[in-house]
Amino acid sequence: MSQSRMKAVIPAAGLGTRFLPATKAMPKEMLPVVDKPAIQYVVEEAVNAGIDDVLVIIGRNKNAISDHFDAVPELESKLVEKGDDKKLQQVLASSDLADIHFVRQGEPKGLGHAVLRAKAHVGESSFAVMLGDDLIDERDPLLPQMIEQHAKRGAAVVALMEVPREHIHLYGVAAVEETDDEGVVRITGMVEKPSAEDAPSNLAVIGRYVLGPDIFDVLEHTEPGKGGEIQLTDALQEQAADPNGNGVFGVVFRGRRYDTGAKIDYIQAIVQLAVARPDLGPELRDWLKDFAETL
Ligand code: G1P
Repeated sequence: MSQSRMKAVIPAAGLGTRFLPATKAMPKEMLPVVDKPAIQYVVEEAVNAGIDDVLVIIGRNKNAISDHFDAVPELESKLVEKGDDKKLQQVLASSDLADIHFVRQGEPKGLGHAVLRAKAHVGESSFAVMLGDDLIDERDPLLPQMIEQHAKRGAAVVALMEVPREHIHLYGVAAVEETDDEGVVRITGMVEKPSAEDAPSNLAVIGRYVLGPDIFDVLEHTEPGKGGEIQLTDALQEQAADPNGNGVFGVVFRGRRYDTGAKIDYIQAIVQLAVARPDLGPELRDWLKDFAETL
């Protein structure tokens, strides 16, 4: 499967209840992380991996997402008039980024259901699913390795990361065995959000998947699972357990990942990303040191 033909699917139809009231009228994917909405980082990650076709699965109140990736002629001409080329480039960067499409999820019935809504757009190609709660540092690219493994093995590939035992119940968790490729494992079983006692390992699925179109056939008959929702994890478990299939593989990520799904992680992500920025980092670092002494 050539990289250029691969599409990305970004499910963004969640209600964002953890960030109320900020998300009452605005989708959580539009929450700013430093100076860009979270979803823009994800689209940039896709583009950096050679993907230029992105489908966003939207829900209620999601017009802000399509507006963000649209051209804003009034704003652009104002910036041209003012000669503010830097801001103009920033505004154009989000509208010229990729070919972005939208589909509504309708009723939010879970991640598996959201992914199934991509079927018509994705057609017969392989595609990447990218969740907006997880931001991957652009200095530690993950998706290209996943795409390569998918092409090599003709199998679904998920990103895995070791997480502390007390956080394991927040994730899909994989039972794995090693392969000949360093950092790549074969998944022998997957379970959605197990308790720490029931978790088969400390390897959690982080929000990146590279899937073949065959996942749609599985999702079509996947019954509601954890939380009464149609789970992508359950569909992948079926593929992992199918003796006639190509299995499911995991790329174990050891780079920098920022979780923006919960308030405390979101705040930490902003600080970490701002510290790494040349325009903000030096001043922020000095201030943080002084501030830490007052705690
Ligand atoms: C989803 C998936 C879960 C995965 C997680 C990664 O859960 O269902 O398997 O580990 O994303 O962020 P959510 O965080 O949407 O509840």
